[in-house]
Amino acid sequence: MVTTTGEWVAACPVEAVGAEEALRWDHAGASFAIVRSPDGAYFAIDGHCSHEKIHLADGIVDGNIIECPKHFGTFDYRTGAARTLPACIDLRSYEVKVENGTVFIKI
Ligand code: FES
Repeated sequence: MVTTTGEWVAACPVEAVGAEEALRWDHAGASFAIVRSPDGAYFAIDGHCSHEKIHLADGIVDGNIIECPKHFGTFDYRTGAARTLPACIDLRSYEVKVENGTVFIKI
């Protein structure tokens, strides 16, 4: 589910996230994973896996999927949807925009 209310917040420079990589971003007591897809688009989801509190920025990005580093549950980082057990609860996803070389997240 994409969260659409809130304010745009500058998260990181675009070069901080490589292709098919995830970056941890902490803000206002919450933690997010910012992901860059193979075609250069940016996405943001809750940072912690919904199975246990493991950060997904340490996981592997493959195509449109991010794999949790602990039990290898997977999520579609474009929507936050859980795809592979033991991850079965969807994550929140957030609107992302890029302006002047900076990734902004609407939180
Ligand atoms: S902690 Fe992520 S799948 Fe278990």
